[in-house]
Amino acid sequence: MRNKITVIGAGHVGETAAFNIARLELGDVVLVDILEGVPQGKALDSFESSPIFGFDSTVLGTNSYEDTADSALIVMTAGLARKPGMSRDDLFYKNLEIVEACIREATEVSPDAVIIMVTNPLDAMCEVARRASGFPRERVIGMAGILDSARMRAFIAMELGVSVENTHAFVLGGHGDSMVPLARYSTVAGIPITKLMPHDRVDAIIERTRKGGGEIVKLLKTGSAYYAPGLAIAEMAEAILKDKHKILPCAAYLEGEYGISGTYVGVPVQLGRRGMEKIVEIALTDEERAAFHNSAESVRELIEMIPVAAG
Ligand code: APR
Repeated sequence: MRNKITVIGAGHVGETAAFNIARLELGDVVLVDILEGVPQGKALDSFESSPIFGFDSTVLGTNSYEDTADSALIVMTAGLARKPGMSRDDLFYKNLEIVEACIREATEVSPDAVIIMVTNPLDAMCEVARRASGFPRERVIGMAGILDSARMRAFIAMELGVSVENTHAFVLGGHGDSMVPLARYSTVAGIPITKLMPHDRVDAIIERTRKGGGEIVKLLKTGSAYYAPGLAIAEMAEAILKDKHKILPCAAYLEGEYGISGTYVGVPVQLGRRGMEKIVEIALTDEERAAFHNSAESVRELIEMIPVAAG
């Protein structure tokens, strides 16, 4: 039997994720939105591309959670996207309500699913989803680090004129301006980038990575990034549904790891069929640890703004 994957939100990110999940034949996709006709139209368009690509996953658009019942995976993208000049944190109260309502409905009919959170501000919305679902932390994980690392990899490849395939990037912390790209763990063909370019270029790449989401928002003027986020979601979905035990940077709820408890923050996570199998702890320098804890603290401040009723 095929897996069923629910994608909530048929906006730019949701449709891109749904299309790529179907293209990878990870299962049959159900795309849900409040707008009538939009998920149906986008799902049909995606499915009509299947003869060209040659994939056999179905894509169904709907406005009803009944159609999503017994999903193995729930991808939550519904919410408002950032507008120019709006920080991810400004979105907080608007998206909190949306996440709470959608996650309650979706998990009621798919109680065994793994949830991939995408709605921003990401780390805080993960906590809203964890509380609203009542799921264990292993089954509520956020997509951010893959996207941030992909951006850093793209900038490294541009700087050095090498294949993106040779690049590896390591980004820790919250999905926001306080994220912590780690240069000494970021490599080209296994060589740390600190040995391949001057410090000021490394610093410029780190800065551009931190502001990567905002750079796209500024250019687009309406809406935010979706190609890279949509594919990052598909990579996480593949690692989970194919039980790959793949280590990817994700937002995870820490319970003592890295000396932090009770908050979501980006760390390397091993993903498999049950969701998060383990959190990988790496040694940090004093400076890196301070930046990481500072980033976790800014997430915690946001989490403390979640009303007790949420969950
Ligand atoms: N239930 C279902 N769908 C909803 C709801 C709801 N309660 N509220 C809003 N939506 C839908 C909208 O109708 C819209 O189709 O969520 C979709 C959001 O789509 P876009 O505005 O295109 O936003 P997108 O670019 O996809 O970003 C979605 O992902 O990366 C994050 O910051 C981004 O939080 C944002 C999210």
